[in-house]
Amino acid sequence: MNKTIIKNISQIATPEGKTALHGSEMNKIKIIEHAAIYIEDGIIKDLGTEGEVLQRVCPNNRHTKDGNTEGTDEIRTIDAGRKCVIPGFVDSHTHFIFAGYRPDEFVRRLQGTSYMEIMNMGGGISSTVKATRNADKEHLYDLGKSRIQDMLSQGITTIEGKSGYGLDFDTENRMLEVMEDLNRDTKIDISITYLGAHAVAEEYKGDADSYIDFMIAEVLPVLKDNKAIEFVDAFCEDGGFDLDQTKRLLEAAGKMGFHLKMHADEIVPIGGAELAANLGCTSADHLLAASDTGIEMLSKSDTVATLLPCTAFCLGKPYANARKMIDAGCAVALASDFNPGSCFTQSIPLFAALGAIQMKMTPQEVLCALTLNGAAAINRADRIGSIEIGKKADLNILKYEDYRFLIYNTAANTVDTVIKNGDIVAGEGREME
Ligand code: NIG
Ligand code: FE
Repeated sequence: MNKTIIKNISQIATPEGKTALHGSEMNKIKIIEHAAIYIEDGIIKDLGTEGEVLQRVCPNNRHTKDGNTEGTDEIRTIDAGRKCVIPGFVDSHTHFIFAGYRPDEFVRRLQGTSYMEIMNMGGGISSTVKATRNADKEHLYDLGKSRIQDMLSQGITTIEGKSGYGLDFDTENRMLEVMEDLNRDTKIDISITYLGAHAVAEEYKGDADSYIDFMIAEVLPVLKDNKAIEFVDAFCEDGGFDLDQTKRLLEAAGKMGFHLKMHADEIVPIGGAELAANLGCTSADHLLAASDTGIEMLSKSDTVATLLPCTAFCLGKPYANARKMIDAGCAVALASDFNPGSCFTQSIPLFAALGAIQMKMTPQEVLCALTLNGAAAINRADRIGSIEIGKKADLNILKYEDYRFLIYNTAANTVDTVIKNGDIVAGEGREME
């Protein structure tokens, strides 16, 4: 058995629970000062003040005043250096598998052309679709792997990844397979989503209904036997898929056993949030333009409101109304939306800062939104997202003693050491003899 103890922790800061925290519950962060965490085979088995944990876990060892443990019990010790430990971050909305980049579009947007105008002129998602259709599996794998390395280095220990840059059967399947391979080969955990309804495939141009028929009849029945594909998502938007098309696809997917997600009310308030709540989606994402009724319906549902502030930032749009949503009782998660178009950044420090400074979330709410509620947005809150007995030891040792530095050290990477399943996977890590 693999035994590890993390000692010399200034402060453990974590939300608690196995489900999403709603409304004012998001503000309740548990703090344990002068703490330690004990891990067996990658699972948290004990935590508390250091004295208590050492006494319970290795009563036969001698604990010296300078913090060393002498004795015979074979426990690997990680020294947190009197710094804060928080749960690993969960980025519950990414489009991280794609080929090609779109810097020209980015510059055109800076000069005033809108995201939808570029899309209607044949750019946007379809230009990434062309590049991704032309990319072989190895190339997509290598690109994905290096992006995962960047994510791990900033403390992201679980992500959700979407297909959606192939739209035809073969390329979508290739993207999904690459994510399965990366989930197996890298340290990060990946929750996989089929997003065939990201845009209407060229082959069905002008006939979104037939494209929906194709996905229901020919794609979903093949994917449903692959347990690695957990979610089906759709870009429900004026210029994307309308409410009826989204409903038809997601209802069919739900019947086949998939969990559901929606890109909802990003640009125009068309009732996406309402539909997501009615369909029992695990998450409704974006919500920049969500209506008051939509917010109320989300607050009464189990659907996590996943907000993507870097997209609003990169598009120069007003932010989703996190304050209103939390005050209404919604469960809010923050995620990146990392993609080559509307948001080419996977920066947790940036969206944490935007959450606090622009969206008026408290430091506690930001921490909860980046961890437990992110985990709930991919149905994994029973396993990850908080530092509690029985959960995976996915942890970040910060460079500072206090978790609020996550925001205060604005838009900087405050993570020193990343621990995944009890092992150091990025950063310094002071392993003791
Ligand atoms: O979530 N709008 C849909 N999908 C992405 C953008 C994808 C792209 O531009 O390539 C989003 O913002
Ligand atoms: Fe997205």
